[in-house]
Amino acid sequence: MSASDIWLRDISTKYGFVIATILFLSLWINYKWSKLRNNIYTSYLLGFEAECAELAASYKRRLFRSLEQIVSHDETLRFMGQIRILEIGVKTGENIQYYPDGSQLIIVDWNRKLENYLICGKKSWQFSHVDFERQIFGDGSSLEKIPNGSVDAVVTTRSLCSTISVADTIHEIHRVLAPGGKYFFMEHIAENEGTFTRWIQTMLTRSTLWPSLYGDCQLDFNPIKEIEKIGFKKVQWKTVTLQGYVSHPIHLYLSRRHLIGTAIR
Ligand SMILES: C[S@@+](CC[C@H](N)C(=O)[O-])C[C@H]1O[C@@H](n2cnc3c(N)ncnc32)[C@H](O)[C@@H]1O
Repeated sequence: MSASDIWLRDISTKYGFVIATILFLSLWINYKWSKLRNNIYTSYLLGFEAECAELAASYKRRLFRSLEQIVSHDETLRFMGQIRILEIGVKTGENIQYYPDGSQLIIVDWNRKLENYLICGKKSWQFSHVDFERQIFGDGSSLEKIPNGSVDAVVTTRSLCSTISVADTIHEIHRVLAPGGKYFFMEHIAENEGTFTRWIQTMLTRSTLWPSLYGDCQLDFNPIKEIEKIGFKKVQWKTVTLQGYVSHPIHLYLSRRHLIGTAIR
């Protein structure tokens, strides 16, 4: 036996138990941490995000009004007076109430449990005025299953912040929209540079604390440059600040400023 083999054997006899304990503890902490993160994120989505959708209701009602005026590029849908809508980050379908009757819906979300909730769950009757044409489980930046120019409207609300790449997602939205099709967005954005809130948003995001607790959400982002440079014919937007009572006022404080608007392909 060489000297290094003997050294290795001595070390593992002496410290083997300690090493195994540390390994076991780190696996256990990792497991507990990811469970805790999942629980925090789920209660955040079902609690705060649902309250936020209520606060945004009046803005959304106005934003989505023009969905009624869209005429489908698809001959069959046009004949039936229907349109095809793609929503990225659909969650529990808070926006579906604003969609015209008979809309053909393509939903994209990385949460597989939503299929049960939206399509065959106890509350699925709320969505009976639309048809779920297709569900895609995955990230908004890879929509290769959707053909070019096949969708009349795309919707994202408070979901771009967690996509793997905002630029790629905007590229995909532009690609799948039919000529004349419309992109509707209402996204929370960073506060102005130099403000205290912006500093906190940046710290929480760059430290990865916020994204790791809240489904990769970036508090310090703003997608308007990506939307404006991709080549839409007409982009209209404004910023609004959500206000009101919610159970998590700090969450609202950190994500209250929104970019709301439309872009025509
Ligand atoms: C904060 S919720 C917003 C839900 C809804 N759009 C609204 O305004 O009430 C974000 C949703 O986007 C989904 N999501 C997050 N990151 C995503 C990604 N990278 N690709 C697809 N969906 C994503 C989440 O699962 C969740 O359903």
